[in-house]
Amino acid sequence: RAGLKYFGSATDSPGQRERAGYEDSYAQYDEIMWKSGEFGLTTPTNGQKWLFVEPERGVFNFTEGDIVTDLAQKHGLTQRCHALVWHSQLAPWVEETEWTPEELRQVIVDHITEVAGYYKGKCYAWDVVNEALNEDGTYRESVFYNVLGEEYIKLAFETAAKVDPHAKLYYNDYNLESPSAKTKGAQRIVKMLKDAGIRIDGVGLQAHLIAESHPTLDEHIAAIKGFTKLGVEVALTELDIRLQTPANATNLAQQKEAYKNVVGACVQVCGCIGVEVWDFYDPFSWVPAVFPGEGAALLWFEDFSKHPAYDGIVEAL
Ligand code: XIL
Repeated sequence: RAGLKYFGSATDSPGQRERAGYEDSYAQYDEIMWKSGEFGLTTPTNGQKWLFVEPERGVFNFTEGDIVTDLAQKHGLTQRCHALVWHSQLAPWVEETEWTPEELRQVIVDHITEVAGYYKGKCYAWDVVNEALNEDGTYRESVFYNVLGEEYIKLAFETAAKVDPHAKLYYNDYNLESPSAKTKGAQRIVKMLKDAGIRIDGVGLQAHLIAESHPTLDEHIAAIKGFTKLGVEVALTELDIRLQTPANATNLAQQKEAYKNVVGACVQVCGCIGVEVWDFYDPFSWVPAVFPGEGAALLWFEDFSKHPAYDGIVEAL
């Protein structure tokens, strides 16, 4: 058993939580998030994204991200930072302009220099590039890829390495939790960077999984080892396991097994260093808004009782 360095939960700043109407739950939520000792690490689920930190070119705003950073510091939690270059939740001005390659390179360098510079010393790791791949392992079309090709990935990591030499630099994506064409694509990115002499320290497996059709323990282990054998660490960065609502004894048991498998795989592979859930309280999950009919993906129900999956994780640790 290799063991984990941390178990964490992402959290949103109150201004950006998914569902309003839960103001009365905040006190109990904050108690679990910050004071209970359940979590040793956190990430702002939205506050460090391009849309919020550089809404206009050269205009930086760290207000939302700082709410989480300050609470993490106050309560002694480590922070994983998310995400520097991503096609989604991108400020409209980046997509709406027709850039020359030279101009877009400058936009990327300026963004990373400001944002990673601002948080320098406060991030255990940065998700430098998020979700660059299609399911078949080819590169996703985005303003970055369309103008610069895979060079944008090199530029992003190169710049982040200069700006924050101590933060671990991660490539982060979903559907990397069992071997597939997409995991091969992510391995290709790791090799491309290493061959170019550019630092990459880790691959983040977002781990947005499905209770009713989850991979096996062995599939998870194989996927994780596919990365660690390239000399990078692995973390489960956004773990949640959604089910068809309403929750019932059957799908909650499937969810428990799924959480146990994936956390257990990370615990068992040397080089898989940590697990973070993408929030812990069902009403604040992103899942119901994006996957209609699915939900109850986290570890605490609306009434703050725990899912059976909580015990599944304890069994895996
Ligand atoms: C989600 C947030 O949780 C939501 O609040 C937001 O509306 C959309 O983004 N992959 C990622 C995360 O890398 O940043 C996403 O977070 C979930 C999918």
